[in-house]
Amino acid sequence: MARVLVTGAAGFIGSHLVDRLLAGGCEVVGVDAFTRYYPREQKLRNLSSAVESGRFRLVEGDLLELDLPRLLRGVEAVAHLAAEPGVRRSWGVGFEVYLRRNVLATERLLEAVWRAGVPRFVLASSSSVYGPDDGRPVAEDHPLRPASPYGLSKLSAEELVRLYARERGVQGAVLRYFTVYGPRQRPEMALSRFIAAAYAGRPVEIFGDGGQVRDMTYVSDAVAATVAALERGVEGTYNVGGGVRVSVRRMLEVVREVTGHPVEAVYGRVAAGDVRSTWADFRRAERDLGYRPQVGLEEGVAAQAEWAVREALAATA
Ligand code: NAD
Ligand code: UGA
Repeated sequence: MARVLVTGAAGFIGSHLVDRLLAGGCEVVGVDAFTRYYPREQKLRNLSSAVESGRFRLVEGDLLELDLPRLLRGVEAVAHLAAEPGVRRSWGVGFEVYLRRNVLATERLLEAVWRAGVPRFVLASSSSVYGPDDGRPVAEDHPLRPASPYGLSKLSAEELVRLYARERGVQGAVLRYFTVYGPRQRPEMALSRFIAAAYAGRPVEIFGDGGQVRDMTYVSDAVAATVAALERGVEGTYNVGGGVRVSVRRMLEVVREVTGHPVEAVYGRVAAGDVRSTWADFRRAERDLGYRPQVGLEEGVAAQAEWAVREALAATA
């Protein structure tokens, strides 16, 4: 792949994907609207090594407004990561922002991809399209019953990819990431908050009893699956889990061990939209993408904690 377009390029996962593609010799066009979900400065820092590469071009703008035919000229593959995230928040802020950023923007991009004849398209989707599991690993054919407006919007984006594959012949893959963590993680996600609280000597709030379990995926593993999907030009839907299932209480315990700080937990109410468990059966990704998660939780949390220290210094510099 000579030239790849990455949407959501300044975000957590998108910026890591950009770095990996550049390291592999690609030319990358990154699109990002710098939405206000979290600070622009953090997103700009995410791209600091990419901008030095000489093979990265950042286009700041909204997918709903940009001149997409122009942007797609000469592009061989599109990785669509731009979205409004936030499972729990999506119950509180109104559906319009999720509809616009996750559904309408995806449709506009797919239409342009089809018209431009771009041969490969990969969508970042989410475990939240499944809703509750029954305490067993879920494969891709598990019933889809999202528990949040965010999950519903990601499912709609997936359906658009399947529609354009069936009716327009756009070769599209859907990757369902399961709770991704590591350096640059979004600030409102559990590990980010727990690590920040540890260094600041603040208590954390656990939503519910902390017995809810997440299949945790280290960011370089999610990125490896994405690059494989782009390179192999696969079609279809793939779970991308980390193979590490932990309760929120255990996440906090690992943060205490890694940072050496005793963090106090305050227990609050169960959050709307939060499922009790996620658990990926990712055998299809193993088979078709050669996917095999490499990073365990202690190692991954240590890397995230080291980054958080550097990031806090950079933010105050
Ligand atoms: P992020 O918020 O860090 O990155 C998303 C980026 O998209 C942001 O920088 C934002 O400015 C940009 N963006 C949003 N709407 C846009 C638009 N209309 N035009 C241009 N840019 C726009 O989020 P992330 O955690 O890196 O997530 C990346 C993708 O992975 C998302 O699609 C998300 O739904 C999906 N996902 C994330 C996780 C996770 O655990 N982080 C898990 C499952 C799925
Ligand atoms: C994450 C991402 O935020 C979503 O974008 C993504 O779509 C989703 O993964 C996915 O797998 O599809 P989530 O699993 O909720 O969502 O990840 P975290 O925000 O890290 O939360 C993990 C758990 O910790 C949740 O049960 C949450 O309620 C809990 N939590 C979070 C707390 O108890 N306290 C907090 O301060 C933050």
